[in-house]
Amino acid sequence: MSSNHIAVAVDGPVGAGKSSIARTAAKRLGFIYCDTGALYRAVGLYCHRKGVDLKNAEDVAGQLSAIKPEIRLIDGVQHVFLNGEDVSEEIRLPEISMAASAVSAVPAVRAALLDIQRDIAENNNTIMDGRDIGTVVLPNADVKIFLTARPEIRAKRRFDELTAKGIEVKFDDVLKELNERDFADMHRETAPLKQADDAVLADTSELDFEQSVDLVCEIIKGRT
Ligand code: DC
Repeated sequence: MSSNHIAVAVDGPVGAGKSSIARTAAKRLGFIYCDTGALYRAVGLYCHRKGVDLKNAEDVAGQLSAIKPEIRLIDGVQHVFLNGEDVSEEIRLPEISMAASAVSAVPAVRAALLDIQRDIAENNNTIMDGRDIGTVVLPNADVKIFLTARPEIRAKRRFDELTAKGIEVKFDDVLKELNERDFADMHRETAPLKQADDAVLADTSELDFEQSVDLVCEIIKGRT
């Protein structure tokens, strides 16, 4: 990186465990953790509340001047604010996942969120997770990891996570939604989800959580 901070880019599909693994690895290594999906979710939440047609890129882009998404670290924990309101919990609702995926396909939305993400990495030793961190947001990241697992395993993890939070969902719906979102994220024109040429592939299908964190930490330590 051009700054004197270490930047680690973690990209991968829905439910690969990016957030929980990257958050824990960051804590262990004393890095800041930044979940960039939360920014897209904040924009998706705004449009969802306003009843904007998410398939209409112009309508979505037209909302941007009224949307101020922010990431703030409170006691080392990332909170996401939408126009001053802490929406960290609300953005996790399943309907907001689809809204986030839809708005993330709009180039103007991606452009609007770029500087927020780069500023964080510029000023901290950071592990940043998303879909295009290693390819677009931080192309010069010191370490790039593409974290994935088989779709059924990712769906099971997501199902367990939502159920534990008391959110009622069916496994088949979770798997279907995951496959739909992966397809949309990989096939959009702007900054699609793909492994950067210089990223290390980490498949956690056969690993438990601790082993996945160990793997990510080893990759980072081996390259910094
Ligand atoms: O990581 P997540 O599930 O919270 O992300 C929500 C959506 O945001 C996801 O479907 C794709 C989009 N996203 C993106 O396009 N680029 C990122 N860097 C992060 C998320």
